[in-house]
This record gives sequence, C-alpha cells and structure tokens, in this order.
Amino acid sequence: MTRRTALLTAFLPVVLRGQQPQAAIRIDTNRTAGEVHPYVFGNFVEHLGRCIYGGIFEEGSPLADADGFRRDVLDAVKPLGVSVLRWPGGNFASGYNWKDGIGPRDQRPARPDHAWGALETNRFGTDEFLRYCERIGAEPYICINAGLGSVDDARQWVEYCNETRNTYWAGQRRKNGREKPWNVKIWGLGNEIDGPWQLGHKNAEDYSKFALEAAKAMRRQDGGIQLIASGSSNFGPNADWIGWNRTVLDRLKDEIDYISLHTYIGNPGNNFERFLGANALDLEYRLQVVEGQIKAAQNGQRTPRPIYIAFDEWNVWYRARSGTTEFEIAKTGLEEHYNFEDALAMGMFLNAFIRHASSVKMANLAQLVNVIAPIFTNRQGLYLQTIYWPLAEYSKQRNNLSLDLQTSGPTYRIDTRPALGYLDVSGTYSPKDRTICLNVLNRSEKMDIATRIENAAGQIGAEAAVWELNNPDLKATNDFGVERVRPATRTSALAAAGNGFTYTFPRHSLTILRLKVS
Ligand code: AHR
Repeated sequence: MTRRTALLTAFLPVVLRGQQPQAAIRIDTNRTAGEVHPYVFGNFVEHLGRCIYGGIFEEGSPLADADGFRRDVLDAVKPLGVSVLRWPGGNFASGYNWKDGIGPRDQRPARPDHAWGALETNRFGTDEFLRYCERIGAEPYICINAGLGSVDDARQWVEYCNETRNTYWAGQRRKNGREKPWNVKIWGLGNEIDGPWQLGHKNAEDYSKFALEAAKAMRRQDGGIQLIASGSSNFGPNADWIGWNRTVLDRLKDEIDYISLHTYIGNPGNNFERFLGANALDLEYRLQVVEGQIKAAQNGQRTPRPIYIAFDEWNVWYRARSGTTEFEIAKTGLEEHYNFEDALAMGMFLNAFIRHASSVKMANLAQLVNVIAPIFTNRQGLYLQTIYWPLAEYSKQRNNLSLDLQTSGPTYRIDTRPALGYLDVSGTYSPKDRTICLNVLNRSEKMDIATRIENAAGQIGAEAAVWELNNPDLKATNDFGVERVRPATRTSALAAAGNGFTYTFPRHSLTILRLKVS
C-alpha cells in the first residue's frame, strides 16, 4: 500500500473498510447527575389552531364528556404521563385577558386574538384548563400576559386561583363552581418577550422591570408559587440571546425559580445525520451556556436561590410554518405530520434533558394535540403520531437518577464543528427498582453499531427488556387507521462476559434497554 492509499484508507468511514465499528458505554450507578424531575415530561396547550378547540375540548361532539373534553383524547394523553401542563400560550398569552374566560360560558365575550389572527370565543378558560389538569393528573402551569397585560391582572389571576379567604376574586371563583382553591403553583412571567413578533415585546431591561414587579405582587398574593422568567427564545449568532439571559438573570435572580428556553428544529435540507447532529450540538451548547449564566448571576453567593432551566417549548417544527407573519403561519394550523426521523429527534432532545438533569428541571413539548403535536384528531377520532412513542416511553423514567455515563465510539463531523458520536446516549437509574435504563439513539444512517456495555457497580441480570423504534423508511408517517411507525418490544438474553455485554444498536434507531442490577 502506498503512503497515499494508507492515508486515504485511514480517513474512510470505518463501515466502508468492511469492519464492524465499535463503541463502548460504561455505567457506574454511583456516578449520577441529578434526579430526572417529573416535570421534564411536561406538555403545553395553547389557544392556537385546533389544539384546544377541536383538540382537547369539543363541545357537542359525541366523543366529548359532560365537560366538553374529548374522551378519546383523554385516553391518548394518559400514557404520555404529562406531569405539568402549560397554558394559555405561547404567543396567545401576550394578548389574553383571563377575565374574559371565566363565568357562564354563554356570557363570555368573543375577542379578536391578535397573536394568531383568530377569533377567541373564550369558551375554554381558567376553570376549564384547571379541571383538565385534574383529569389528566398534571400540575398546571399558567403563563401570565407580560405583553399587553398589567401587573395587577397577573396578581388578580393568582387571587382567583389560589385565595382561601373571602376576597372578591376568590368569591368569583366560588360563584363559578369551585369552592376550594385551585392552588396553581407554577406561573410563567410571560412568553418570548424577547421576540419582536410578540405582542408587547420589550427589551431585556423593560421586561425585567415588569417581571420583577409582577413577581413581587404575585408572591404577595401567594408566597408559595414558583416563577419562570421568559428566557431567550431567539437563538443563534444573530440574536443577542446571551445578553437577554444575562440581564434577565441578573435582575430577577432573587425572585425566579426557572428561566425558560424555547427551540424548534427541522430538516429542511433533508440530511438525516445533520438533522440529528447539528441540532444536538446546538442544544448541548445552549444548555451549557445557560447553566454557566445561572452560576454567573449567582455571583459566588454561598447559598443562592436555586434557578433551573424550564425548556418550556421544544419540538420539530418546520413544514407547517410557511409565511412571514404569525397570522400567515397560523393558516397552516401548525399541523405537522410527523415522520419516523422526527420521532428519533425526540430521543435527541430527551437524552440532552436527561444528561442535564441537574439543571433542566422542566421541559414542555409544544404542543399536546393537533398543533405540532403527538396526537392528531378529526371529528371522528384520532391517531398517534410517530413522536408519540418516545415521549410515552421516556416518561416512565421520571424520578430516576441521571447517570453520568462514559461513552466512546465512531464519530462524525458537521462542517467544521467538533466531532460527535454517532451514538447519542443517556441513562437513568432507579435505586428503588434497581433498574438501569440506557437510552441510545443511533444517528448513523448506514451503520449498525456493536457496543460493549460495561457495568461498574453491581451485577447486571441475564436479560434486558428492549424497547426499539425503527423503520426502513426515514420519512414513514402514521395516519388515521395506519400505524407504520410504532415501537417493538422484546426480552433479549444478554451474552454476558464479566459484568458487561455487547449489544448492536441498529442504524437510525432509538433503543431503550432496561437492565436489572443486583
Ligand atoms: O408553539 C407555537 C409558538 O411558538 C408559541 O406560541 C410561541 O411561543 C412560539 O414561538
């Protein structure tokens, strides 16, 4: 072999040289990185398109119950294990007057929705939302109107929901049929106020002043609430997202419990490995920066108020997004038809949230039904989109400890960015059940990756429960009556050698291995 061919061969992808690529994952259940908070499996419903009206709520439908809630949707929502539900927006929140949405439904005013260019009937409001949360067992999270709304509107909303004494707004709540307080613990201090598309958009200083006063007033109403600041939604080299977060964290650090982040990703160039790789790098970078910013804002205080990340909007969203204004975009209904590769992206997101379990203590998929959602309805029924399956499966890992895994294996590069592994891995451990979950996304389009899995503490059992999502067609979708993408489950005997075994993760797949450890 000439020197030139030897050099060329060394740089060819391993698969082309006919060798089996090798990777390794080392598990040590003593090396953990925080609890995977149940709120990481949160969701979001906005007054937008068919998410609420025609999604979770459809009065008069034979599929709806006495409250107007679609029973088939309720059944589909339950396995998702939605721990916390955000409402009423989104952009919608920044023009919403909550007082329009209480009292007898037929007397509620219809209003123009200037966020999305719709007509809001207000037939679904605070009490309907909170009743829905009770039905699905989710913690409610209300986002106040920090756009066109006032500090006192926000304070009065807390009074309506949480006041125990005989005050005016508690009286209104009782008149509307709810004697005991709803006790809403989680409140967002506005949505994407950094974005020029937002009604009542503000600069970071003005937003922080508003949010500080809102926080003060809301907390005086109820000292037990948790508050989420509107962090940067605009991400990228041309947006001053770092500056926004720095100001907001600096001004609000003694008042807030979370800072929110949003992101939507897509694959417009139809490049599978780039889709799952570039977005993973961005996500990782963004989480690391914001974690650092939180620490910097706390400025060496010995016992700073803990501030966590609430990634309260995330998903794949790019096809049903045409138009330059929100009104134009809204015409698409934001009704994404998800395919198989989008489902794999759920693994990418959730793996990152799990790896950052010590800082990411809430994440809300946007959204629950019809609008960029895992559940898709028409008047007659529904189907489960491809992205439904990983969401339902990962949510079983709530309360587990995130594992600090050591991984190695074949890598690839996107442009000049740092090399990244084809395997995107996270792991969790439940000391109570003595169960390890290994979540492995193989983002190689071509390579099955044989991986040596070693366990440092405790003996792993002789078999694994395997959950696998795979499909030969990256663009395969589900539809009414057609389920092309759904997970396979099996029990797999482990050819154990020592305290480890080798497992092959198929190309373009998402696998969850459940291992017992004694
Ligand atoms: O989830 C759809 C929209 O995306 C939300 O209303 C807004 O917050 C974001 O830009």
